[in-house]
Amino acid sequence: CGIVAYTGQKDAYPIIIKGLKRLEYRGYDSTGVALLNGGLNVYKKKGKVSELESHLQHEHLSGNIGIGHTRWATHGEPNDVNAHPHYSASKNLAIIHNGIIENYSVIKQDLINKGHIFLSETDSEVLIHFIEDIQKKAQCSLEEAVRLALQEVVGAYAIVIMSRDSPRKLIAARKGSPLVIGVGKDEYFLASDATPIIEYTNEVIYLDDHQIAVISDNQLDIKNLEDIHIIPYVHKLELELESIEKGGFEHFMLKEIFEQPKSVKDSMRGRISAEKGQIMLGGLREYLDKLTQAQRIIILGCGTSWHAGLVAEYIFEEYARIPVEVEYASEFRYRNPVINPEDIVIAISQSGETADTLAAIELAKSKGAVIFGVCNVVGASIPRATHAGAYTHAGPEIGVASTKAFTAQVTVLSMMAIVAAKSRGTISDKVYRELLTAFEDIPVKIQQALNSNAQIKYIADIFKDARNFLYLGRGYNFPVALEGALKLKEISYIHAEGYPAAEMKHGPIALIDEEMPVVFIATKDSSYEKIVSNIQEVRARKGRVIAVVTEGDQLIKQMAEFVIEIPATHEALTPILAVIPLQLLSYYIAVMRGCNVDQPRNLAKSVTVE
Ligand code: G6P
Repeated sequence: CGIVAYTGQKDAYPIIIKGLKRLEYRGYDSTGVALLNGGLNVYKKKGKVSELESHLQHEHLSGNIGIGHTRWATHGEPNDVNAHPHYSASKNLAIIHNGIIENYSVIKQDLINKGHIFLSETDSEVLIHFIEDIQKKAQCSLEEAVRLALQEVVGAYAIVIMSRDSPRKLIAARKGSPLVIGVGKDEYFLASDATPIIEYTNEVIYLDDHQIAVISDNQLDIKNLEDIHIIPYVHKLELELESIEKGGFEHFMLKEIFEQPKSVKDSMRGRISAEKGQIMLGGLREYLDKLTQAQRIIILGCGTSWHAGLVAEYIFEEYARIPVEVEYASEFRYRNPVINPEDIVIAISQSGETADTLAAIELAKSKGAVIFGVCNVVGASIPRATHAGAYTHAGPEIGVASTKAFTAQVTVLSMMAIVAAKSRGTISDKVYRELLTAFEDIPVKIQQALNSNAQIKYIADIFKDARNFLYLGRGYNFPVALEGALKLKEISYIHAEGYPAAEMKHGPIALIDEEMPVVFIATKDSSYEKIVSNIQEVRARKGRVIAVVTEGDQLIKQMAEFVIEIPATHEALTPILAVIPLQLLSYYIAVMRGCNVDQPRNLAKSVTVE
């Protein structure tokens, strides 16, 4: 979910609506706003921000203070009633909430016994009723009631509350879900991330877990749950407004795909020099010894980040000779894993907020492991929870399906592996230099890979009505097959599976008939001959082969119905190039099927609930 709030001299409504649109990638099944204009009024509606906006176009929506929410449903289906904000029993308070209150049913039952009536099925409505109930009982201030209530709450939250009785006050708190405060001149902004804030101010405060912020008559006061004052650190944002706008592209996803020559370059900037024979990741310096001596590396992530982790497994094991395990954070955290103090955990997350990844980090930390983060959003929860790390510097990724974040993650993780290999002495000078040169050439080669755009659009048109897709790759390209399949299913809703090409014989081959498109990632690498055999196996069963091949490949051209060429590079870096045509293929198929590419159904960009 995305939350936005404003208090200051300006009209709150347009600021909140614009902010919600910027946050819509976090969830978009319903939208709502509360304003103080002759009373505490809540306006909400199922659907996207634009639907609420057109619903309200004839309303007079004044007021200098307000809160807004765009929802990704957890408790209760997306409808007008379950949309936020929610009122308290007296309608004196309104709340917006991102997260899950785990013990809400116990609290709810208690309140029902006292006569409370709930309109929605949400945990958030329970929380605001609970706060008001405490305030009445304890006869205390609203902030004190919020503090007392949050001491009872189990779960995760970022909340903002406003009150009819205190027309110049906003109360915000967080635990587990992100909340940023923008500090303007005589005005404050609150939001789930900085994107709604940057056009007004570049000064922000990241609220920490267990902190409550009270903005009253333009004064900000932050305390922890024990009621102790906190002196906040004001960060200067370096985000550019253009980086969160579409800039002439039809969709954010397409813009982000085409940004990859730059985003990968930005991920390497100042970190790598083939000429000097150097790779350096400043954020790891203090912990380089730990990495060098690591007995094992555990890589954690979800979704696309997990796929980047799989690529990293191959390169770490091949060159640094450290055993690697890659695990879904959501499984790791619940299965009592063996973690030793000599283990290094690498947590990968574009948003830096994924709840499962964050919880997995806390678990590993409690067992004494050193945690590295590979994140894209500066200042997010995961980078703050880790001991060390390296940002990916891909710039804001708005399209829900991850593209440039993946290539940046693979770039940074690969650099990390080479750094480890060099300091362990497990890589020859020759290979080390070859890899460094290959890295430097990668941005230009991504640009060349993007040149297949028109051809891919043509292929997309032929296969857009397929009901299933199979993606096959071997070695470094196996995770690419998984990522290609994920992209397609996420945005076009076509069922797609990624598989190691050889493993196909043990199941998916049964699916192959003359209607089945099979995408092979078959570059000239150490498993080339093997994958050529796999292509023949598919052809023999009349499957329709689309192959991503290395420039100049003649052999596969004769077997496949379509080939898409990518430039040759070092085998270990192939995934960064091979994924590009797969991103484009899924993009065009989804567009041709009329799907909402940037905001696919049911998904959210930043999953801050477990
Ligand atoms: C969601 C997004 C995916 C993303 C995954 C992990 O499912 O839709 O695109 O890969 O979360 O997110 P993270 O921010 O931790 O990389």
